[in-house]
Amino acid sequence: MNMDEKLHFADLSDQLLDWYAGAARELPWRIGPSARAKGVKPDPYRVWLAEIMLQQTTVPHATRYYQDFTRRWPKIEDLAGAPDEDVMAAWAGLGYYARARNLLKCAREVAAMGGWPDTAEGLQKLPGIGPYTAGAVAALAFGRRAAAVDGNVDRVFARLMALTGDWKSAKARLKAVVEDLVPEDRPAEFAEALMDLGATICTPKSPNCLICPLREMCAARKEGRPELYPIKPKKQAKPTRHGHVYILLGEADTVLTERRPDKGLLGGMLGLPTSPWSSELAAPEFPSEGNWSELGELRHVFTHFALTLKVWRAETDERQSTTRQQASEGLPSVFAKALKLAL
Ligand code: ADE
Repeated sequence: MNMDEKLHFADLSDQLLDWYAGAARELPWRIGPSARAKGVKPDPYRVWLAEIMLQQTTVPHATRYYQDFTRRWPKIEDLAGAPDEDVMAAWAGLGYYARARNLLKCAREVAAMGGWPDTAEGLQKLPGIGPYTAGAVAALAFGRRAAAVDGNVDRVFARLMALTGDWKSAKARLKAVVEDLVPEDRPAEFAEALMDLGATICTPKSPNCLICPLREMCAARKEGRPELYPIKPKKQAKPTRHGHVYILLGEADTVLTERRPDKGLLGGMLGLPTSPWSSELAAPEFPSEGNWSELGELRHVFTHFALTLKVWRAETDERQSTTRQQASEGLPSVFAKALKLAL
């Protein structure tokens, strides 16, 4: 931070923390400002689990999974000892399945070490923990003076500083400022307060500047168009791929599924048989002979492409690999949608 920035943001942390004392969201993985003030420490396992689930996922959606996971696996040793398939099935519907594979790897490493590293540097060496998560867990669970800069914090500071120009350099600049502003004595609340400000006031569209505790020091507000920030490069349009998905229903409410290879999209998850996904739709090649009928088409959007799948269904007298119940609970969303069409 340069001298001008130091002066300009001199009161930021105090004003933010004052606001947070009255406005903190109550979330199941948090201990809350009053418990924290009494010296209660959160369980690093729960803090970490929540942070991994909240990546690219909304709070309400992640909350359901967080509650399910902590009920089934209350301690990190429980999660470390769980069978892969159970954890992958419990993650189904949360998306970005590499997170679940890394979650298990990380739990097993930490359980084997007998505890967590308690610094951002140490945490960042673990599977699935990048700079954001390392900073968040170090601050929230261990009270370290570390910054947790995610997309919300990017937006808040891009506005406070009215950052223009190359977005990569802007991000690096604002990260350095946030790191300098983390108060020595209350890094956890500082991180939570910024998350809450970004989620409830400094929102992507129509930010509620009138009630913002930082409005007096916000350069974008002074300009009058805070919603224009952050100024990011335009996203590339996503290509569409096409394929077929085959639902073979067997005797005793069973359905044909397959375990997907560990590497690649939806890696390690339960799946339904499909054709290859390509830019042109090829003719279907069914996994078995039978009375295949076409049910319609579904569309699903992944990070780097959109997928349309023609859904096919057939019935057979033979028992298939999983029950419909197991399938509807353990399939990732794209396949759960297909199965729903067929049932
Ligand atoms: N988004 C990312 N981490 C979060 C947290 N701990 N609480 C609320 N929202 C978040």
